[in-house]
Amino acid sequence: MGPVAAARLPFQCSSSTLLHSPQVGAPWKARNFSLLIPSSPRILPCLQKQAHRTRTATFKRALICAEVAQEAKTEASAPSVPSTQKAWYYDEYGAAKEVLKFGEVAVPQLQPDQVLIKVHAAALNPVDFKRRLGKFKATDSALPTVPGYDVAGVIVKVGSGVTSFKEGDAVYADVSEHALNGPKQWGSIAQYTAVEEKLLGAKPKNLSFAEAASLPLAIETAFEGLERASFKEGQSILVLGGAGGVGSLAIQLAKEVFGASLVAATASTSKLDFLKEIGADVAIDYTKEKYEDRPEKYDVVFDAVGECDKAIKVVKEGGSVVVLTGGLQIEGFVRIIAVTKEEV
Ligand SMILES: NC(=O)c1ccc[n+]([C@@H]2O[C@H](COP(=O)([O-])OP(=O)(O)OC[C@H]3O[C@@H](n4cnc5c(N)ncnc54)[C@H](OP(=O)(O)O)[C@@H]3O)[C@@H](O)[C@H]2O)c1
Repeated sequence: MGPVAAARLPFQCSSSTLLHSPQVGAPWKARNFSLLIPSSPRILPCLQKQAHRTRTATFKRALICAEVAQEAKTEASAPSVPSTQKAWYYDEYGAAKEVLKFGEVAVPQLQPDQVLIKVHAAALNPVDFKRRLGKFKATDSALPTVPGYDVAGVIVKVGSGVTSFKEGDAVYADVSEHALNGPKQWGSIAQYTAVEEKLLGAKPKNLSFAEAASLPLAIETAFEGLERASFKEGQSILVLGGAGGVGSLAIQLAKEVFGASLVAATASTSKLDFLKEIGADVAIDYTKEKYEDRPEKYDVVFDAVGECDKAIKVVKEGGSVVVLTGGLQIEGFVRIIAVTKEEV
């Protein structure tokens, strides 16, 4: 996979690294690797229909924000937007217990292309704790930080350039266009958050605010991974970490939207039923069985765990492995290009 493949993407990528095998001498030649750094909130509006019927392990994370959401509820009838608000925030990097505070911060200033959302629910993802630990401080926005990428709520104010949404609309979003490169300083774990119109989706009516807030970043990641692997109807897929936020959505999208012929997934014993419930044909207990020793090979392996050294053993010749996390020191494969938004 190279610049041409990247250019086919219907959405933007801020910093994805593509790896593929050299043509000669590699045991896995013609297999493609893609280290996925999610950065495509624009696809959320396209995923409305899928969101209607999606179950996600990320849902539980939405509950973390109950405290802020409760505050927001009591203010629901307030006639105007205050200049300050309650939020979770930190002004230095470190462990949650040491740096996370709950207090008063400014309500973000609205840009012409943004709407101000009264937050009804927000969710956290692994990227939030990695960011708080300062793992990508070189490309982070300035401190203090209000964490949170995922939000669902009601628009209370629109910027002068906003055309598709109005006050009172229920919406959901991943508030940061780029997850690692300058994510929003004022995230979603607050009473109000400002979001660009292009990043918004109308909240599906049959989802609660908490359910809607559980989806954006994880479903974008799952969708983008399948797209980048050029996953097609009739193909087979193995999802590593199928019970997690991204994995559970990758299973459902692969089956319901992309038309997979077979979906296999890994999880620990107590989550095997969940894998079946959401559409996996084969549920593999990684605590009891080594999937890499099984004879089956898959067109795509979607690795949400960080085991690409094992994943490459079960992908078909010419297939693809999507890697969300972990090291990429794979013998026989070379890094060929780093794609930026500008290059795409
Ligand atoms: N959330 C996002 O939008 C996003 C975006 C880009 C990248 N990522 C990265 O992708 C990874 C997964 O993210 P997530 O949000 O899906 O995390 P998550 O919801 O916390 O996923 C945790 C799941 O991983 C499973 N798991 C742990 N070890 C496993 C193993 N060896 N084999 C199979 N399953 C295993 C756990 O199942 P058991 O309890 O059964 O072990 C649990 O269900 C993280 O490293 C994250 O940084 C996430």
